[in-house]
Amino acid sequence: MNAAVPDNVHFPHRHLLGIEGLSPDEITILLDRSEAFVEQNRRADKTKLVLHGRTIINLFFEASTRTRTSFELAGMRLGGDVINMPVTTSSIKKGETLIDTAMTLNAMHPDVLVVRHPYSGAVKLLSEKVNCAVINGGDGSHEHPTQALLDALTIRRRIGGLAGLRVAISGDIVHSRVARSNIHLLTTMGATVRLIAPRTLIPPAIEKLGVEVFDDMREGLRDCDIVMMLRLQTERMQGNFFPSISEYFHFFGLDYEKLSNAKPDALIMHPGPMNRGVEIDSEVADDIGRSVIREQVEMGVAVRMACLETLSRNLDDGDADGG
Ligand code: NCD
Repeated sequence: MNAAVPDNVHFPHRHLLGIEGLSPDEITILLDRSEAFVEQNRRADKTKLVLHGRTIINLFFEASTRTRTSFELAGMRLGGDVINMPVTTSSIKKGETLIDTAMTLNAMHPDVLVVRHPYSGAVKLLSEKVNCAVINGGDGSHEHPTQALLDALTIRRRIGGLAGLRVAISGDIVHSRVARSNIHLLTTMGATVRLIAPRTLIPPAIEKLGVEVFDDMREGLRDCDIVMMLRLQTERMQGNFFPSISEYFHFFGLDYEKLSNAKPDALIMHPGPMNRGVEIDSEVADDIGRSVIREQVEMGVAVRMACLETLSRNLDDGDADGG
């Protein structure tokens, strides 16, 4: 169990660029604040106008369904003005650089920029050029902090805490910002993380992050409390990383037979989008007793409300650092 952090404890960062470097208390602050929004989002009146007068701009240079929509809903439910910058029809398409785009948007006095970009590090670079708060909505294969927070909230609400859990993350780890953010969050909170994938999909020297690596799925899943599956990100692959989809599913697709190695009540998670029959069997994905995939989407809105509210509050204080 992770103890609650008192309400007066401050989240000391201007931006949310990653989970790496956040302390257990800072992670807990964001998770605790998300809880109230879960309840609020289940009511008929889902609004709490704490962001009235604030402007939030969603700037997504990569495709997104869940993340962009949930940031949009989160901003609106808090009473903020939310704009989605259509990257495909804006001047970015005409060759404007990332920094020029940032400077242009900055001149319009936004309070929060939510940015997704195909290059690792691009969101941090942008955050150094603007006066507002920046939230990383996923940068390349680097970090996706709000995804790890929503995963943690889902687990915490189901199991009660994160410390001491054994979590398996399986699939295309090398291209996954979700995996990286989850590794940082789960190890910081005292969980054990196992990575399961063919060697070609495991980043070199990943053990340095304090994880165990398995290329045998049955072995890797043994006695796990949580099984987190990841999509094969073929759009980021140059060259062959595995022989064929059917062979991949045979060795690394989550079906009931392989799942039987995990704890009998192990939860099944997936950040989406899912490729059914590739990394996960359809029946397993839809198993209402064990799959929490839809709950993850629900928690995503609450977590993004908590992040928007927390960072906006810090803008008023004027003492937040650039972290
Ligand atoms: C993930 C992403 O974009 O990193 N999706 C998400 O945010 N829900 C994972 C993926 O694209 O496979």
